[in-house]
Amino acid sequence: MDDHGSATGSVTVIGAGYVGLVTAACLARLGNTVRCVDQNRPRIASLRSGKMPFSEPDLAELVMDGVAAGRLTFHTSLAAACRRAESVMVAVGTDEGGRWTDRHIRAVVESLLALPAVPPNIIIRSTMRPGGMAILNGIASAAGSQTHLYYNPEFTREGNAVADFMAPDRIVVGMALGAASVAAEPVRRLYKGIAAPMLPVDYATAELIKVGSNAFLATKIAFANELAQFCRSFGGDMEALRRGIGLDHRIGPEFLQPGLGFGGSCLPGQVDLLTEVASERQLTAHVVPAVARANRAQAHRVAEEILERQDSAVRVTILGLAFKAGTDDTRESPALRLIDALKQRSVRRIRAYDPLVRVIPDRPDVHVVADPYQAASGADIVVVATEWPAFGRLDWTSMAGLVSRREVYDARGVVDVAAATSAGFRVRSLVRQPADGAVAKDTSSAA
Ligand SMILES: NC(=O)c1ccc[n+]([C@@H]2O[C@H](COP(=O)([O-])OP(=O)(O)OC[C@H]3O[C@@H](n4cnc5c(N)ncnc54)[C@H](O)[C@@H]3O)[C@@H](O)[C@H]2O)c1
Repeated sequence: MDDHGSATGSVTVIGAGYVGLVTAACLARLGNTVRCVDQNRPRIASLRSGKMPFSEPDLAELVMDGVAAGRLTFHTSLAAACRRAESVMVAVGTDEGGRWTDRHIRAVVESLLALPAVPPNIIIRSTMRPGGMAILNGIASAAGSQTHLYYNPEFTREGNAVADFMAPDRIVVGMALGAASVAAEPVRRLYKGIAAPMLPVDYATAELIKVGSNAFLATKIAFANELAQFCRSFGGDMEALRRGIGLDHRIGPEFLQPGLGFGGSCLPGQVDLLTEVASERQLTAHVVPAVARANRAQAHRVAEEILERQDSAVRVTILGLAFKAGTDDTRESPALRLIDALKQRSVRRIRAYDPLVRVIPDRPDVHVVADPYQAASGADIVVVATEWPAFGRLDWTSMAGLVSRREVYDARGVVDVAAATSAGFRVRSLVRQPADGAVAKDTSSAA
């Protein structure tokens, strides 16, 4: 990766999670001096010894380079890490039991406002609820602080976060002031070296750009899942349909892939957040709440289809637990929703495998094994639930000796259908046109 190295700001990033650590490492790569602080001591200790707390392509290299160049350091004391920082970026978590909370953001902002020297610029990177920045700004004003509060949401995708950070479509800067372009300067300085339009806007607009973007992507996915039902019912080819629709530049092909529905820490939470805000403000929102409902229903629909309404003495192997390929993140993973939906239909045994996931926090009930063939051994049906490219290279001849009913259900369109079919598997796919007529099934009765 090229060393951009033209920014020269000094910034403290609070939170060394998926967002904070990527932000810290990338800002250091851009040439800034970055202190990254987290209250999780073991996490900071392992980062200091070069061990990443989660899997993200290119991140380890970037962190090591930043540390070696003396531009990236790790800390546990917020006060020490913020001393003489020009800007402080807040990237702490906002999820509490599946609901958005500003508890951690507020705690951090209040700690910053109580410092003997309050940092001149506080930049919120965590996702804000619409209206949340005005409240934080009110807290800062009530404390008599002269600090400038910004909202700089991020739009990176887990599994591609470093590349997305370095080549964003836009940099959004929400702020209180009218003199936008001048006032955005502290944020602009940090991103020097990145060629992307910068959008200085008011707080509410920035908040709605963030949640609005994610809600739109979620809507596309929910729509694709619905369209796939029409497509299968009429015997169409979903891949060709997606291409045909996606080539329209007003629509685009991305996020039109049908599957198990959207997951992860962003999309489901933000669709729910927008629904909640609409209800609180008594706004007439039809689309966003429907998207949330459609997404929840998708796992049940697919579970029905997998089991084909058979009675359920079925043993199922789930391949893929991460909410998408390229990450080990299982938060709000559709694979877990599917497991729950299968369990509600009292499937006899579920075993799972994922290339990166070995344990799932708070889910001791999911039996994860370290090898796909071991996971498949003794199963009746194999379900591919995450689009890991490795699942396109499975050895179906070996699988054939392990899977008693020789059935595979491909919810992600990655299985090598020809190889699986010639090994004797009956392949059903949520995404692809079945290779032979025998696997085509009218799903209209299964919904
Ligand atoms: N994960 C993503 O891809 C993604 C994408 C867009 C936006 N976001 C948003 O970014 C924010 C952060 O998400 P994440 O996935 O990085 O969360 P995370 O849980 O991975 O990381 C949060 C980190 O903040 C630390 N922390 C919490 N309170 C702290 C405090 N008082 N002082 C110091 N450290 C503290 C935690 O120990 C943890 O390491 C959320 O608002 C999320 O919605 C995430």
